[in-house]
Amino acid sequence: MTGDGLLAHHRLREGEGTPLVLLHGFPLDSRMWHDVVPLLPGAFPVLALDLPGMGSSPSGHDVAQRLQVPDVPSVDIQADAVADTLAELGVDRAVVAGLSMGGYTVLSLLERHAWLLAGAALVDTKAGADTDDARANRLRIADEVERSGTVDEVLGMRRAVLGETSREQRPDLVDRVDGWIRDQGPAGVAWCQRAMAARPDRLAALAAFDGPVAVVVGDEDELSPVAEAEAMQDAARDATLTVVRRAGHMTPIENPEPVAAALAALVGRARD
Ligand code: MLT
Repeated sequence: MTGDGLLAHHRLREGEGTPLVLLHGFPLDSRMWHDVVPLLPGAFPVLALDLPGMGSSPSGHDVAQRLQVPDVPSVDIQADAVADTLAELGVDRAVVAGLSMGGYTVLSLLERHAWLLAGAALVDTKAGADTDDARANRLRIADEVERSGTVDEVLGMRRAVLGETSREQRPDLVDRVDGWIRDQGPAGVAWCQRAMAARPDRLAALAAFDGPVAVVVGDEDELSPVAEAEAMQDAARDATLTVVRRAGHMTPIENPEPVAAALAALVGRARD
């Protein structure tokens, strides 16, 4: 891999062959994948990106300008920025895994940049669009974080993203997620909420993809429940489903071993 990229990128493991690219959830950054990487068997390279406005990446506004696209928040800008960054790094084919918001980005990549994807992992995510109420709530939150200039409005997610078992038994995980959320800027949080609010249903894009797919979900995920994962497995042509026990919406930190196993198996299927 060579060059710089539009988005901040973190080479979590050097290696040989098709890279595994990891996209984080909301309102977080690429650190949420760190527990999985040491558990990945094989020798493939692993790269994590920060999506626009999150972690160390430039704002959504700056990314839209660099891509010369209309400055309207969308997961398609996230996907185009991922594709652009990988191209700058000399990556022309990758297995891409996304958790929740990162999964929405993967679904957009499937529609807009399918040639790039040797395989796709959809982790604790869903293919449907928001309901009207969910969309209105996101826009309200976006306005509120901008008005307050803080991310307080989304701090409740430090518990909501965890499963019941973690909430009761793993206060350390609540603290980790809390720290990651507090590290994000209000402008990035608002931009992502508006981007997610505008996303379309992408079940048809998933059904059209002829590469291997891995669907992963925590059995205690209250934000993207198991039924959503089953719907994606049913829609995809070649998908496995991994239900991670005693984990909520943050399987990569709540129970990383089965997540690592599912991702490594997907990389193996992409090679076959
Ligand atoms: C996430 O974890 O990325 C969020 O739950 C996504 C969302 O708000 O839909």
